[in-house]
Amino acid sequence: MTAHGNNGDNSIHVIADPQGNQNVEFVNTELPDVIELKGVRQKYGEKLVIDDCNLLIEDHPNTGQFITILGASGCGKTTILNYIAGLQKPTSGEVLINSRPIELADPISMVFQKYSSFPWLSVLGNVMLPLILKGVSKKEAREKAHEMIDKVGLDGHEQKFAQDHILSGGQLQRVAIARSLISNPRIILMDEPFGALDTNTRFDMQIMLSEIWLMLKSTIILVTHDISEAVFLSDDIFFMSANPGKIVDYYKVDLPLERPRELKHSAEFFRIRNEVEDTLYAIRQKQREEERRQKEAARAAKKTAAESVGKK
Ligand SMILES: Nc1ncnc2c1ncn2[C@@H]1O[C@H](COP(=O)(O)OP(=O)(O)O)[C@@H](O)[C@H]1O
Ligand SMILES: [Mg+2]
Repeated sequence: MTAHGNNGDNSIHVIADPQGNQNVEFVNTELPDVIELKGVRQKYGEKLVIDDCNLLIEDHPNTGQFITILGASGCGKTTILNYIAGLQKPTSGEVLINSRPIELADPISMVFQKYSSFPWLSVLGNVMLPLILKGVSKKEAREKAHEMIDKVGLDGHEQKFAQDHILSGGQLQRVAIARSLISNPRIILMDEPFGALDTNTRFDMQIMLSEIWLMLKSTIILVTHDISEAVFLSDDIFFMSANPGKIVDYYKVDLPLERPRELKHSAEFFRIRNEVEDTLYAIRQKQREEERRQKEAARAAKKTAAESVGKK
């Protein structure tokens, strides 16, 4: 077990077999389950993309949970978010939300890297839309939308169209975030939401997200490539390996719930950031070794086959 691969209440364990292959084991405690993946396997055609993937996120009432998934490109992170959003079912295994199979009624919301605002609507129109679709009166929808627009720092921009040359990338992503939060989802999925933004804007968005999360106390699952972003925002980091994708390591970010901007300058932040980077590096190293081993085995098999043909 890795030193950090353990949460406070001992319900998450990182285990390793004698070959050093790691797996994460979840012990179901009395806390309510929010999201559970059990023995999930995904095949796209003949290709096995995800195998034996397990995840259990329990509710910590009155605080919510902020989870980040880190892993190489193509390891299956978006696929996992799609399961949780109910957009896709695994080839086999179970995906449970609040201990039940996914239902359309589950209040889950997704934010993508590409700004998913409607350019023919104003900022206000975009943010109101989910409530209007739910049948909320225009007056109430407008009031709530104004509140949310305020929270994401877009006040004064309500009447502008949500278009590229009118709003900046950061502002468009704020529109998308406001729209996805307005119906008060208990689960918010974010797939590299700040990936297309410049460093400073990204930084502002991280601080905004951290403040909003403290207020909403919901469950956020963030997929990102940015290690500092993962540490700054989350309490729990899960690491995925690739080929096939599964969750192989866990890191509990032991920082206070409130994360002021200056936290990023602290020695403690750097220490954690470095440990997370080392963990990612170790997973990549292991992966490279495994790929080398497989290639060599294939080469040896080919050679043996050629020799036996030669002998005949
Ligand atoms: N609908 C699909 N059909 C075929 N292959 C897919 C499909 N969706 C994803 N893949 C493949 O599965 C792997 C994992 O994809 P994805 O979940 O998007 O990974 P990530 O988000 O970690 O980059 C990739 O190799 C990708 O090309
Ligand atoms: Mg992806």
